Amino acid sequence: MTTTKPEAAKAKKSTKSAKTEVLAIDVQSADLTDIETPALVVNLFRGVKKPGGATGAVDKALGGIITQLIEDGEIRGSAGETTLIHTLGKIKPSRVLVAGLGPRDKFDVQVVRRVSAEVVRFLRRKGISSTVTIAHGAGIGGLDPQESGQAIAEGAHLGLYKFGTYLTNNGDATTEFERLTVVELDTARAKAIDAGVKLGCTVAQAAITARNMVNEPANHMTPSRMADVARKVASERGLNIEIMENAQMKKMGMGAFMGVAQGTNEPAKLIILRYDGDPGHPENNLGLIGKGITFDTGGISLKPPGGMEAMKGDMAGGASVIGAMEIIGQTKPKINVLAVIAATENMPGASAQRPGDVVRAMNGKTIEVINTDAEGRLVLADALCYAREQGITRLVDVATLTGAMVTTLGKACTGIMGNDDTLVQQTIDAGKKTGEKFWELPMFDEYKDLIRSDVADMKNSGGRQAGSISAALLLAEFVDGAAWVHLDIAGTSTSDKVSGYLVKGATGVPVRTLAQLAADLAAASKPKKSKTKAK
Ligand code: BES
Ligand code: MN
Ligand code: ZN
Repeated sequence: MTTTKPEAAKAKKSTKSAKTEVLAIDVQSADLTDIETPALVVNLFRGVKKPGGATGAVDKALGGIITQLIEDGEIRGSAGETTLIHTLGKIKPSRVLVAGLGPRDKFDVQVVRRVSAEVVRFLRRKGISSTVTIAHGAGIGGLDPQESGQAIAEGAHLGLYKFGTYLTNNGDATTEFERLTVVELDTARAKAIDAGVKLGCTVAQAAITARNMVNEPANHMTPSRMADVARKVASERGLNIEIMENAQMKKMGMGAFMGVAQGTNEPAKLIILRYDGDPGHPENNLGLIGKGITFDTGGISLKPPGGMEAMKGDMAGGASVIGAMEIIGQTKPKINVLAVIAATENMPGASAQRPGDVVRAMNGKTIEVINTDAEGRLVLADALCYAREQGITRLVDVATLTGAMVTTLGKACTGIMGNDDTLVQQTIDAGKKTGEKFWELPMFDEYKDLIRSDVADMKNSGGRQAGSISAALLLAEFVDGAAWVHLDIAGTSTSDKVSGYLVKGATGVPVRTLAQLAADLAAASKPKKSKTKAK
């Protein structure tokens, strides 16, 4: 239980071998046809017969090739469509890539993120390592130039992402994409695009921090290693950090968390990150709570072996909270944010907790452990209590909490539940801006019967009915009157295919939404003076 020194040494080695993103993005004010580049990216809405704007200008300089390809039915402008045209010296760029934007009435920043990702991946497959692009949508598309720049940067970084840490020959076989230049003739608009690109890079890198943690195998991404990543983020972004160890957590009465942690030899960690964006108003706060189960075997209620390897990603909630703090530390919204990540393994060790055990959480409430595989709600119970004790009045927890959520909503959207309609809606709205989707499930009182216990205040498993809701209802017992939202990312934390800016493996969901929510709450609290006092 005490391996601090060797842990730290190993951490350094791992950080060095971890893959760093090499893509550089810049913005230039120049004439499109006059830039030397292996590929110039223009775009086309679906159904357009005669391209206008930048695409029209390039078409003209190429003697109408694009118009011809549209006439011949080879370019349709469908979303994600990529057509590469060699320019044979007619203009400075050696190739022109026409990227389809899909139908105009469905066009938004999310389309730009996806198209940007598809374009750079397409070029990388062709062995091309740099490109010049117009800012999709910032012209005819009607997008704000800054938003377009941000979406292009996010899409490119996230779409090029690969987790190659343990591939011995990684990098030899495929080209690394090195440079993306966004071109805009108007200098004021170029400046706005540049600001967007910078923000997009920050945001994408933070999502990649989370992706890397989730993709790391559990023998490497232990609770101690999660704490190391959090320390690195804290030192780079000027956040306060505190790591709480088993002994102190026991002393504080975190019996629910410690019940899970007693089955493993890996020391558990309560990772606490603090960003003080509004120190004069402690009540202007947000708590981000993450489930950090670095491997979930199920414990004594052991999971079946098929697919168990996916449980290395059971710390995705915690990883996303660390990622969000990386953004918040950079963008500095006027709000205080406390992040609490409960990190441990769920192992069936000799001292593991048994089905039937009763544990007591920090707020004094008792839980009968029916199923040791329902461990996420146990560790979150104490993390929520801790945040409440710290005076947090708005809580968002993020967890790969239930298999039932994957059955219910699949991978298209994250399940959201809560006790406060405003905070639920604010989270959903933040997600609309980031392209991360949420769908609310009900928390009717009728469901509370599912977790009633004969021997304790509640039981940790509600059986087969409404599994995601009964899990959330247990969490609700530990928020002590605070506004609270629960995000069950069991489905959305990983992707099983390459699609848009997602690649196979970890998605980084909901890093970008959490940071957006913090920014939105900060903006909303600005005009009015807060009346509520911190606890
Ligand atoms: N980590 C799992 C949930 C999960 C399953 C996440 C699949 C991602 C993919 C969680 O700890 C768990 O095991 N939940 C149980 C709860 C049950 C025993 C009440 C489940 O969903 O089966
Ligand atoms: Mn489990
Ligand atoms: Zn779990």
